[in-house]
Amino acid sequence: MSIRSEFPILNQTIHGMPVTYLDSASTSLKPRCVLEAIRKYYEEATANVHRSTHLFGETATQGYEDARNRAAHFLNARPDEIVFVRNTTEAVNLVALSLRLEKDDEILITPLEHHSNQLPWASKVKVVYVPLRPDGLPDSSRLEDLVTPRTKLMGLGLLSNVTGTRGDVEVWREVASKRGIPFLLDASQAGGHMPMDVQKLGCDFLAFSGHKVCGPSGIGVLWGKRSWLEQMAPPFLGGGMVHESRLDGYTVKEVPWCFEAGTPNVEGAMGLAAALEFLEKIGMKNVEDHSKELGRQMYDGLKGNRQLRLVADQTSERYGIVSFFVDIPGLSAEAFGRIMADTYGILLSAGKHCTHPYHDLIGFSATVRASTHVYTTEDEVNRFLDAVREITG
Ligand SMILES: Cc1ncc(COP(=O)(O)O)c(C=O)c1O
Repeated sequence: MSIRSEFPILNQTIHGMPVTYLDSASTSLKPRCVLEAIRKYYEEATANVHRSTHLFGETATQGYEDARNRAAHFLNARPDEIVFVRNTTEAVNLVALSLRLEKDDEILITPLEHHSNQLPWASKVKVVYVPLRPDGLPDSSRLEDLVTPRTKLMGLGLLSNVTGTRGDVEVWREVASKRGIPFLLDASQAGGHMPMDVQKLGCDFLAFSGHKVCGPSGIGVLWGKRSWLEQMAPPFLGGGMVHESRLDGYTVKEVPWCFEAGTPNVEGAMGLAAALEFLEKIGMKNVEDHSKELGRQMYDGLKGNRQLRLVADQTSERYGIVSFFVDIPGLSAEAFGRIMADTYGILLSAGKHCTHPYHDLIGFSATVRASTHVYTTEDEVNRFLDAVREITG
């Protein structure tokens, strides 16, 4: 299968130039099979799930639960530990709302976390941050000193959306399991770049978004160990999640359905299943090798450029995501991004990438980010590197 030919959006041109899409950390492009899965739901069996007593309803319910099985397979998990949510942000909020936290409890995270793995905690408890090393990456050797009896969860990004580096999962897991603290992985970026086997990762919770793994927007997964999910109080109540409701009380459905209040994103789940199957067909090891290859190519191509300051520039070990500060007076990251788009047809991101505290700590007002996916080619990365060289002289 030619991976690229499965993405119809890439057939377009912008201002007569081929589209070079290097903004996959924002959202990924969608292959034909995902579009087809969504079309099929609308054209052949639109119905609500777990409610209707007709053929469409049965087909939709089957498709929705098949999607849960597919997500479980992708993560090497049990289907009854898969909760469908809207996205990673909702997944982290769901854990934060359900864990019965108190104001003086503590959560341990890194300053490199995306806002979605920071603000849900910061709004409820005291957040303790692992310090950064001089190279701009979190200093995991300090973890043991920072855990206290009030630490209620340790949360880590599996793959940074800024540096393209993998979190120190093994170190965090060891400390968390030794101290009996639940360990959450924000895997929002990871699914398009590396295998995600929750047994091997050894976490208690893992969250990812459909739209970053070639699936649709508005669907995501919270995986949690059943023993944790069973202790959590469902924060969203209403139809779909209730087992029995009386005038004087109610009982909720079993895990995971008790966390899925209201009509879910049925077509989204079906599109997500198609996307995960697509990635599995490519092979997640191949996906990882490809991402690392492109990551190295971008790192090698950018690191000697005196007009740029690469974030975490001493680390060549990275996936296909790089960010850099443009050190040219009068040329902002945003202006750099616009030139890339309008002059070269290269689409990427400029700003703080939802990591304001991290950008403040490393002293960059904004950075340009180039991010790849399974459909990105070496030629495209070369086109990007040539354009950077041209702009920076
Ligand atoms: C590392 C990381 N965590 C969380 C999120 C939030 O994902 P979503 O917007 O799909 O909820 C993102 C999105 O860019 C991310 O990169």
